Amino acid sequence: MKPIIAPSILSADFAYLAKDLEMVNRSEADWFHIDIMDGVFVPNISFGFPVLKYVAKMATKPLDVHLMIVQPEKFISEVKALGAHTMNVHYEACPHLHRVVQQIREAGMQPAVTLNPATPVSMLKDIIQDVYMVLLMSVNPGFGGQKFIEHTVGKVRELRALIDSTGSKALIEVDGGVNLETGARLIAAGADALVAGSAVFAAPDPERMIHSLKEL
Ligand code: DX5
Ligand code: ZN
Repeated sequence: MKPIIAPSILSADFAYLAKDLEMVNRSEADWFHIDIMDGVFVPNISFGFPVLKYVAKMATKPLDVHLMIVQPEKFISEVKALGAHTMNVHYEACPHLHRVVQQIREAGMQPAVTLNPATPVSMLKDIIQDVYMVLLMSVNPGFGGQKFIEHTVGKVRELRALIDSTGSKALIEVDGGVNLETGARLIAAGADALVAGSAVFAAPDPERMIHSLKEL
C-alpha cells in the first residue's frame, strides 16, 4: 500500500499561500498537515484560527492538525470548526490524555497522540487502543527544515510491534526532516504516513516531490 503523504504548510510561502494550497490540492498528497504553535509549548509561533479558516476553505483534502500548544483541549471546538479530520495533541502537553482523546472523538474527529523525540514509545501502552494515529516527532517541534533524528527509525519499529501486539489499528505518522532518503527507511520500518515540509516546498518541483514520496 502506498504511504499517506501530508505536506506541512508551515514551509509554504505565506505571501502566496493560495498558490501553494492549490498545488497540494492538485497533487497526489493525501492530507494537509497544519502546525499550530503557541510560543509556550514550543519556542515559536506559527499561525492561528483566523488564518486557518481560509486555509480550510480552500483545501480539498483532509486536515491533519498538529497542536504544539499547552492545554490543547481548550481548542477542540475551534479545530472541529475548521472541519479537521485528525487532531494531534502532544503526550507531553496532556496530563489527562485519556480524557482529551475521548473529547476529540466525541467532537467527531480522529484523535492522534504525538510524541517528542525524548518520549519513549512505551508511554503509549495504555492509550494505544484508543487512538486513530500516533505521530512520532523526528525533530524537536517548533521549526521546519531541521535535521532528522536517527533514533526515530527504531521508534517506528517499536511502535509497530506495540500496535501489532495489542491489536490496535493505530496508524504511524512521522514528522520532521522527512525526505526521500529518511522517508524510505521510515516506510521500511513500518510507518504509514509521512509529513514533509521543506522537502516538498523547497523542491524545484513540489508536485513531483509529492509524487516521489508517494512512490516510496
Ligand atoms: C515541526 C512541525 C513539522 C514541520 C516539518 O515542528 O511539526 O510539521 O513543518 O518540517 P520539515 O519537513 O521541514 O522538517
Ligand atoms: Zn507537524
